[in-house]
Amino acid sequence: MSADKNTATPSQGSTTLVVGSGFVGRALAAHLAAKGEAAVLASRCRPNSQAGPWVRLDATDAVACERVIDEIQPDRLVFVHGPSDVSWCQSNPKRAAEAHTAAAINLTAAARGRRTVLISTDNVFDGNSPANDETATTAPANAYGQAKLAAEQIVRESTDATVLRVSLVYGWEPADSAKWLNFFAACAHRLQRGGVVEAPHDQWTTPVLVDDVAAVSAAALTPGTPELLHLGGPDRVTRAEWAEAIADGLGAPRSRIIRTPKALGRYASRPTYTCLTSTLLDGFCRQHTLQVRGVAEGIRDLLKVAP
Ligand SMILES: NC(=O)c1ccc[n+]([C@@H]2O[C@H](COP(=O)([O-])OP(=O)(O)OC[C@H]3O[C@@H](n4cnc5c(N)ncnc54)[C@H](OP(=O)(O)O)[C@@H]3O)[C@@H](O)[C@H]2O)c1
Repeated sequence: MSADKNTATPSQGSTTLVVGSGFVGRALAAHLAAKGEAAVLASRCRPNSQAGPWVRLDATDAVACERVIDEIQPDRLVFVHGPSDVSWCQSNPKRAAEAHTAAAINLTAAARGRRTVLISTDNVFDGNSPANDETATTAPANAYGQAKLAAEQIVRESTDATVLRVSLVYGWEPADSAKWLNFFAACAHRLQRGGVVEAPHDQWTTPVLVDDVAAVSAAALTPGTPELLHLGGPDRVTRAEWAEAIADGLGAPRSRIIRTPKALGRYASRPTYTCLTSTLLDGFCRQHTLQVRGVAEGIRDLLKVAP
């Protein structure tokens, strides 16, 4: 066996291959495991030891995709791999496009019609509108959005798939994580250390809790799910408002949030609006008895389990 698995693939029930073992992929695998379903993560480097079953895979390698899917024999697949760093993609647009395109082609070919969910992004829009539902016209804001849109098109043409476009995802990540932390985690860790947070007052998002992303992604594996579904949180907030809500939750003074124009800070390359709305999500959530939490509820629930 050429793949480097650390746990045997569970043999009962349906198995989901989750390609990408980062922030979102790990949360999805944990969600499926908590429901008693088998999930195998796949990526180039082994994630931390608590991540559960994992197989080594470079999704840009067609032969490796065939081999891993033959070996795992998943019933369903979720594509939730990188490159996901917006700034890196902007500096390396060709590599970003090639990676997402090759992965989409290789994985859908190897999947041979199996049910698939691709996790995509609000960056497929130009960032000038506060509301983008499933009927909105795409016009990628940046190289990352272009690469993801290309992957969407390949997946939608190739297989029985749902493209789940997700807004900014948040949740706890370790303060010493090697990658750029999501906004909530970066902000909360900084405030907990007594620091100040600079946050734009002119960049809006519809943040969505990582556990809610996992639950909706898992439900989207159900056959009959719409081909395209948008998942944004119910609240549209600026990063500054969001940071203030995190400070409130932590009991830190709001004076530690410095409101800045987007153009002056680390979010300069982000669109003004990274927001998603949906004509389908409410009905989908009712059907699957799911609830997507707003910012206040999300912060409250995260602070209850603060590391
Ligand atoms: N986080 C968000 O706010 C958000 C919002 C909307 C959509 N999304 C989408 O969700 C996906 C994952 O986001 P994330 O935040 O979980 O990213 P992440 O933490 O950076 O994880 C990305 C994962 O993809 C793997 N990967 C990268 N290149 C790969 C390749 N060639 N073959 C196999 N695996 C590969 C990485 O592991 P290795 O480097 O070890 O291979 C890593 O496990 C991205 O596609 C992103 O577009 C994320």
